Amino acid sequence: MLNRVNRVAVIGTGFVGSSYAFALLNQGITEELVLIDVNKDKAEGDAMDLNHGLPFAPSRTKIWFGSYADCQNADVVVITAGANQKPGETRLDLVEKNTRIFKGIVEEIMESGFDGIIIVATNPVDILTYAVWKFSGLPKNRVIGSGTILDTARFRFLLGDYFDVDTRNVHAYIIGEHGDTELPVWSHADIAGTTISEWTKNKQGYHQKDLDEIFVNVRDAAYQIIERKGATFYGIAMGLVRLTKAILENENSVLTVSAYLEGEYGHNDIFIGVPAVVNRNGIREVVQLDLSKGEQEKFNHSVQVLKKTMEPVLF
Ligand code: LAC
Repeated sequence: MLNRVNRVAVIGTGFVGSSYAFALLNQGITEELVLIDVNKDKAEGDAMDLNHGLPFAPSRTKIWFGSYADCQNADVVVITAGANQKPGETRLDLVEKNTRIFKGIVEEIMESGFDGIIIVATNPVDILTYAVWKFSGLPKNRVIGSGTILDTARFRFLLGDYFDVDTRNVHAYIIGEHGDTELPVWSHADIAGTTISEWTKNKQGYHQKDLDEIFVNVRDAAYQIIERKGATFYGIAMGLVRLTKAILENENSVLTVSAYLEGEYGHNDIFIGVPAVVNRNGIREVVQLDLSKGEQEKFNHSVQVLKKTMEPVLF
């Protein structure tokens, strides 16, 4: 039987969606990429522009502007459409507007006969991932939010920069809401298998507030970037490509994504950023870290804020 090619469909070709498409093409992750957007001209223009870069890409990707019908044979659909944060807005401020938009999007995706994995990137991503799960009827392991995948990357970058170590040797997670109530899991952070506190001993001029500042800069990064350039898109796009690769290549990689909890971390019936094993079937399992008392309290708070925000839009 002919090897079926991988197909990815991206819904929304705004800053995030088109940056994701560009990164996907440059990393040669999929054989087919279909761009879907209400703004036909933008999506068609993106498809043309990306196709012209193909000769420079590491592998062949068939790219076209398509319709929801093209989701039928997609392995992964990535939703980036919706309103994004404006200066002074929190992610949670977007919940009602984007939930309405999502109902229509998910209906169109499912009408195509789609039976793959949906990745959600639009904010508030944890709540919208829950909405996609409810609207789509897909099993919970096949609906994944980008969650704190980018926050964890920011955390690893800033720690690597501070200790002058390659980020690939920094193992540290941000979990919870992708937003103001997220938290750093310092109790399980290490660099090359050595605790952060060990590394501070050799850091010239180290002060505890340095690490506190690193977390604040992670948590508030989007506000800082939005103030400067009006939106964030490169970091999240690369995080979405990382997640797509883990799925299509059946990696069983651990990534901090927005996953459904059924008792893990003491909570149920919520999508929230936690480390999870990701493979071709979506989420294989949630990785349960043994949080400190303080970390657990912050995680509980994050869950409560998300659940309270979801109340007006109970699906
Ligand atoms: C950010 C967006 C993706 O954190 O919420 O940059």
